[in-house]
Amino acid sequence: MASSAISQLLFPLLLLPLSHAATFTVVNNCSFTIWTAAVPAGGGRQLNRGQTCAIDVNPGAIGSIWARTNCTFDGSGRGSCETGDCGGLLECQDHGTPPNTLVEFALNQFSNRDFFDISLADGFNVPVNFIPDSTSCRGTRCAADINGQCPEKLRAPGGCNHPCTVFKTDEYCCTSSCAPNEYFRFFKKNCPDAYIIYPQDGPASTMFCPGGTNYTVVFCP
Ligand SMILES: *[C@@H]1O[C@H](CO)[C@@H](O)[C@H](O)[C@H]1NC(C)=O
Ligand SMILES: *[C@@H]1O[C@H](CO)[C@@H](O)[C@H](O)[C@H]1NC(C)=O
Ligand SMILES: *[C@@H]1O[C@H](CO)[C@@H](O)[C@H](O)[C@H]1NC(C)=O
Repeated sequence: MASSAISQLLFPLLLLPLSHAATFTVVNNCSFTIWTAAVPAGGGRQLNRGQTCAIDVNPGAIGSIWARTNCTFDGSGRGSCETGDCGGLLECQDHGTPPNTLVEFALNQFSNRDFFDISLADGFNVPVNFIPDSTSCRGTRCAADINGQCPEKLRAPGGCNHPCTVFKTDEYCCTSSCAPNEYFRFFKKNCPDAYIIYPQDGPASTMFCPGGTNYTVVFCP
């Protein structure tokens, strides 16, 4: 796992006694079937084109939601996916295998705010729009056709890898230092609001809403 934008911003947890679960409504607007995934909530569901499901996330939870593609599972919930696979389980216990577009969230943090971003630190598989069910704050999106334009060296079955996943060097993983390069520019040009990886990018790509907000996650907006 690459570092997340949200982890750069975490504050001591301040849970209000009245906090209750937030509902994330996931919409599959893609022309193909996806399998939802969430940590820590599990949230493993097959969503055919046009289907919707709800994932309830506990107050104070820090985690992520993503889409998996081209999966097959048996009746006991074991199998595999071409992108976003989490150890072959329908109900994810851990993060997915890159490439996968991540919606990251940290609920009810400092001042009872929810923080969230769309991260491409693990690459991209499916475009996504993250919309608060509230008019008092704004969402974030990464809706470009990144797979179709993916640089050749980053191409993967069903997705487009982050260069850190492919090259594993400081230059691309930003473990100690890094500068903008052609690959970061490619992602940033296509999805200016998303977190790519370099340190200056974290605060700028992280959004917030009042704690208690519900959200809609549209895949293929
Ligand atoms: C799933 O795999 C098939 C065959 O390998 C491919 O043609 C198709 O594009 C894939 N679908 C998605 C959503 O990636
Ligand atoms: C969030 O969704 C839940 C479940 O649908 C609902 O009970 C709750 O009132 C919603 N919260 C807000 C702030 O709309
Ligand atoms: C679903 O996709 C269509 C284009 O295929 C688009 O016009 C529509 O706005 C999308 N719906 C949502 C909720 O994003």
